[in-house]
Amino acid sequence: MNIIITGASSGIGFEAVLELTLRNENHVVALARSHDKLKKLYEIAKGLNPDCNIYPARFDIVHDDYETGLLPFIKEKIGHVDILINNAGVLINKPFMETSTIDFAEMLQTNILGHVKMIRQLVPIMPKGSHIVNIGSMGGFQGSIKFPGLAGYSASKAALHALTECLAIELSEEKIHVNCLAIGSAQTEMLEKAFPNYESPIAAFEMGKYIADFALTGHKFFNGKVLPVAVTTP
Ligand SMILES: NC(=O)c1ccc[n+]([C@@H]2O[C@H](COP(=O)([O-])OP(=O)(O)OC[C@H]3O[C@@H](n4cnc5c(N)ncnc54)[C@H](OP(=O)(O)O)[C@@H]3O)[C@@H](O)[C@H]2O)c1
Repeated sequence: MNIIITGASSGIGFEAVLELTLRNENHVVALARSHDKLKKLYEIAKGLNPDCNIYPARFDIVHDDYETGLLPFIKEKIGHVDILINNAGVLINKPFMETSTIDFAEMLQTNILGHVKMIRQLVPIMPKGSHIVNIGSMGGFQGSIKFPGLAGYSASKAALHALTECLAIELSEEKIHVNCLAIGSAQTEMLEKAFPNYESPIAAFEMGKYIADFALTGHKFFNGKVLPVAVTTP
């Protein structure tokens, strides 16, 4: 499978890449902004599986140029895309009244608009039977328990959830399935920002493995679904 994953430099995305690159049939383009962390990811992936096919690239899903920067790289390395995992995300934890418009804009740009841009660029090189997996959050899941400080983040994730349902309809002719995993918690830097001192029962590598497995097989069973992935609150 030819796979693109964003937010690959840390947390869940980092671990999902390590899981996916264990199999030589997978060709994985791993995107994030931090060059050093991507270098570390490459070294660990090659350490675990020296024959793995991993193509790390520094790319900002909000500010960098898709047509001249990312697309030529993808076409050269893997040609087409079978699986896109939109995992990159940011969280700014502030009371609503202290959250500036710039804070809101940053979360909306990364958590929804960056994924919109990525999907628009990649759909033309995704064959029938491809899978887009958006990484959402229980924070944006309708009816879930909400927490102070996370209004902007939760609203941005709710937008991603709605986008998932809409795209599954719009891309049905192309036979591209679109799903969203609304994650509860996994132990990462982002979780520490959202819930300082809280310890998740789910390690980052466990969630990364779950996402990798779902990306490979979930489209056979689901389309247009926003699936809660949570055993605790948060
Ligand atoms: N951990 C949880 O409990 C939890 C719960 C619910 C949902 N989630 C979701 O799961 C996903 C992964 O989160 P995580 O917990 O693993 O957080 P994390 O460790 O903070 O990772 C976030 C990743 O996103 C990347 N990123 C941020 N802005 C980017 C941009 N503009 N362009 C490209 N990459 C960008 C970061 O890399 P660079 O800084 O190197 O670019 C990093 O690799 C996020 O979408 C998050 O909202 C996590």
